[in-house]
Amino acid sequence: MKPVFLIGFMGSGKTTWGRKLATKTERTFVDLDEVIVHEIGMPIAEYFTKYGEAAFRQVESRTLKNLPLSEPTVISTGGGTPCYFDNMAWMNETGTTVYFYLPPKALWDRLVQTDIASRPALKGLSGQELLADITSKLADRTSYYEQATHIVNHLSLQLDELVDL
Ligand code: S3P
Repeated sequence: MKPVFLIGFMGSGKTTWGRKLATKTERTFVDLDEVIVHEIGMPIAEYFTKYGEAAFRQVESRTLKNLPLSEPTVISTGGGTPCYFDNMAWMNETGTTVYFYLPPKALWDRLVQTDIASRPALKGLSGQELLADITSKLADRTSYYEQATHIVNHLSLQLDELVDL
């Protein structure tokens, strides 16, 4: 059984759906951010501050490609994972990819309810500045996300749709 990589912007529901899908289909669930935190020994936000984003992207890509995938696995990736190096092509060659699409306003509504400080890619922004940043980042990332083999909308998604992919 090929691994399933869940991709999409921060706050798009990858981890929540990933856990549900893995439970329902009796596959192992892996949260790439969690594996990275274990590898670097500190929160991702701290790593960004200490070593910068470019260093994080190297660790992220290496960790992705070293995941143990011999068992049936569902992997929730980070919002930027598909957009660096050849990560998107690698995921498409290695397994199935599912893009969780949500429009910027819906992402914003969800993200403002979370701890923004723990998401260094959002640079501690709030309010309209945050919405503008989400909108422009999503636009920059869309050409990568849309290379996914499947595209789903978190708001209207049913678990059975995911199971059947
Ligand atoms: C990032 C998303 C985060 C994490 C890192 C960078 C991004 O993952 O990998 O903070 O650039 O979009 P989530 O999408 O799980 O929040």
